[in-house]
Amino acid sequence: MKIKVLGSAAGGGFPQWNCNCNNCQSVRAGKPGFTARTQSSIAISDGSPNWILVNASPDILTQIKNTPELQPNRSPRDTGICGVILMDAQIDHVTGLLMMREGKVPMRLYTTPAVWEDLTSGLPLVPTLEYYCGVKWTPLCTECEKPFSIAPMDTLRIKSIPLISKAPPYSPSRYAGRVGDNIGLMIEDTQSGKRVFYAPGLERITDDLLPHVEAADVLLVDGTFWTEDEMVRNGFSKKMAADMGHLPQTDLPHRDGSGMISQLDRFPGKRKILIHINNTNPILNELGPERDILARHGIEVSFDGMEILA
Ligand code: MLT
Ligand code: MN
Ligand code: ZN
Repeated sequence: MKIKVLGSAAGGGFPQWNCNCNNCQSVRAGKPGFTARTQSSIAISDGSPNWILVNASPDILTQIKNTPELQPNRSPRDTGICGVILMDAQIDHVTGLLMMREGKVPMRLYTTPAVWEDLTSGLPLVPTLEYYCGVKWTPLCTECEKPFSIAPMDTLRIKSIPLISKAPPYSPSRYAGRVGDNIGLMIEDTQSGKRVFYAPGLERITDDLLPHVEAADVLLVDGTFWTEDEMVRNGFSKKMAADMGHLPQTDLPHRDGSGMISQLDRFPGKRKILIHINNTNPILNELGPERDILARHGIEVSFDGMEILA
């Protein structure tokens, strides 16, 4: 399979329109080591001109422009995107759906019932799209382990895996989490035999997640924050990483082994890549010491346009 990282930043992107943190100022000034990024999304292909879009970011039109292979020219109106899978109902993962309203056929949308509920009530994108292309929904099961495929990409088998993270701030479930508010994906290519585990929003690697993580060859996971108090310390928010459903890279004070770097250290021999990186995260300085730490632990940082073959 081929995975194309369309957007490697968390909500807000990099730089964020109203942010003057060190990182955002540096990327605006064109300082060496800082590269702009769009908001969180990937596309997956079986090697054919067909693609599955995973999350539809507010930057989708720019991302499609920057990724010509998403638009094969087979008819006057055409797209390589066969279906859209959503990991959650967060603004940075869903609002791009509105930009795809010109589709010729109903949009094939794969979400959990919890995400569907948010997108038909708190943020009613689905009823809105009914006035345009329409939506054909396939509910994703969060209890069964049954893999599904998106035709015609039958050699890619996908499992939705419920995760601990958070429903969006606008959701009535923000503080009363439902199973299915957030999922990860296990994508298996039955031809190469390789598996990729994708989880851009991950608050905890729970015991039931371990077999999935163990089974994957590539881990493409939550890289939002370096420290738990990053937003608070910088004066941008009162929310800690856990309040937002994200596991920071470094350990919590007095909790050795709690952070993403320590967690990933438990799985040697896998390719490990961070994605969904917030603009406050010091790993956005490609020349900074945090990058050396990641490199010592064999952890890569994704970037817009990155290709992952598995
Ligand atoms: C998150 O995942 O917490 C988001 O990036 C927040 C947002 O979209 O504003
Ligand atoms: Mn997000
Ligand atoms: Zn910033």
